[in-house]
Amino acid sequence: MSSLALIGLQWGDEGKGKMVDWISARFDLAVRCQGGPNAGHTVWVNGKRWIFHQIPAGILNPQIKVGIAAGCVLHPQTLFEEWEKLDAAGVDYQSRTLIDPRVHLILPHHRLLDRLRDEARGKAKIGVTGRGIGPCYQEKYARYGIRVGDLFSPSLSDRIDVLLGYVNPILEKVFDQEPFGRQGILDDLLRVKDRITPFVGDAAEVVEEYLAQGKKVLFEGAQGVLLDIDHGSYPYVTSSHPGTGGIPSGIGISPKSIGEVIGLTKAYATRVGTGPFPTEATGEVEAQLQKIGNEFGASTGRRRRCGWLDLPLLRYAIRSNGVDGLAVTKLDVLDDFDVIKLCIGYRRADGSIAKEIKPWDENAGEPVYEEIEGWRVPTDGVRSLEELPDRARAYLERISRELDVPLWLVSVGQDRKATIVLPDFPFK
Ligand code: GDP
Ligand code: IMO
Ligand code: MG
Repeated sequence: MSSLALIGLQWGDEGKGKMVDWISARFDLAVRCQGGPNAGHTVWVNGKRWIFHQIPAGILNPQIKVGIAAGCVLHPQTLFEEWEKLDAAGVDYQSRTLIDPRVHLILPHHRLLDRLRDEARGKAKIGVTGRGIGPCYQEKYARYGIRVGDLFSPSLSDRIDVLLGYVNPILEKVFDQEPFGRQGILDDLLRVKDRITPFVGDAAEVVEEYLAQGKKVLFEGAQGVLLDIDHGSYPYVTSSHPGTGGIPSGIGISPKSIGEVIGLTKAYATRVGTGPFPTEATGEVEAQLQKIGNEFGASTGRRRRCGWLDLPLLRYAIRSNGVDGLAVTKLDVLDDFDVIKLCIGYRRADGSIAKEIKPWDENAGEPVYEEIEGWRVPTDGVRSLEELPDRARAYLERISRELDVPLWLVSVGQDRKATIVLPDFPFK
């Protein structure tokens, strides 16, 4: 099988960056299919920390090519800043980067509106990343958006006029802001065009060519499936499709081009922003998870809410995304806990126990926990399942059994090397 989709099964920040960097050594092409710089993917290599928002996190593997496909939204300045960091470290991206012409551009008014709109929601705020994601996707679907390919169109300036005809009244009348002028946007976009022209190409065609040649393609997830615009905890979601379904539509390829699907979950749970989080911990326990797990946002530095693993939500995420194998990350964060709680079901109003719940179901009931004795032994130096403390291994095996998905990978530290590979993992 020559392609692998890697997706987050929770609310994002599952450790996708770390695993993508590690897995990418085995691949020829890594493609981001949806989302934009709301993503923050952390990679540690040789003691240096990288955070990728736009560029696929596989880029540090010198053999790989990377693509930003049609379903993504792109903030050019963020991309350029990431390129500058790669330049400074002597990492070549010039010959290895592809940007699809159908990608929508995030413009300054998107960021402004993102912030103003979330503020205006008051208590119902979503806690957006403020990267302009919602407004950019909104204008895409309303068919006002400016795409990478439009930079080459003779009607670019007309398109900006149509866009501003819609946006400026909102800025002025609803939010009491200054309007944007056409010329400023046009000048900025022409500068963007100069820089990205050599990288623009059809990502769908390239993916298909690679697959036809038997080369290996990684579909790199961003966000997590519980944040899906349709299938997550709406309205406390992002504006795109982080699950497996977002991949074929986000690139423009057949769904049959997806080989295997690996789903990532932390050994516990986190959520950044507002919205339901039934297994959220409180007090000392939350503080300990936060501190040991260093749970502060890679995009915004915000404190991540922390809690326990939620098997009923994971069952939903796995089933609805065709997950073939599991990667459990940040196991080492639980090393110091005397007691680890595991949510095994939800008690419904009628007293029965639900084994699976939906993220949007506000009447799912109360989480039912099992308490598990912690292993209290460091696992960060462990490199095989056999070396793990018995109770840690039992915890992982329990998760895999309950979810009915084989365990493929376990992460026990932020570094590439801190990865345990299980025999079933198909891409050794
Ligand atoms: P992503 O958005 O899914 O790529 O995840 P983030 O990079 O936003 O957040 C994951 C954080 O956990 C980062 O700081 C990683 O360096 C770190 N991390 C990833 N895997 C592990 C692990 O197995 N153990 C520990 N202790 N940290 C990890
Ligand atoms: P990665 O790829 C965690 C959350 C935001 C907010 C909601 C909507 O690093 O896992 P948006 O700016 O997208 O409109 O915000 O979605 N969110 C993420 N949370 N990790 C992410 O990406 C996220 N991307 C968006 O915090 O609650
Ligand atoms: Mg992140």
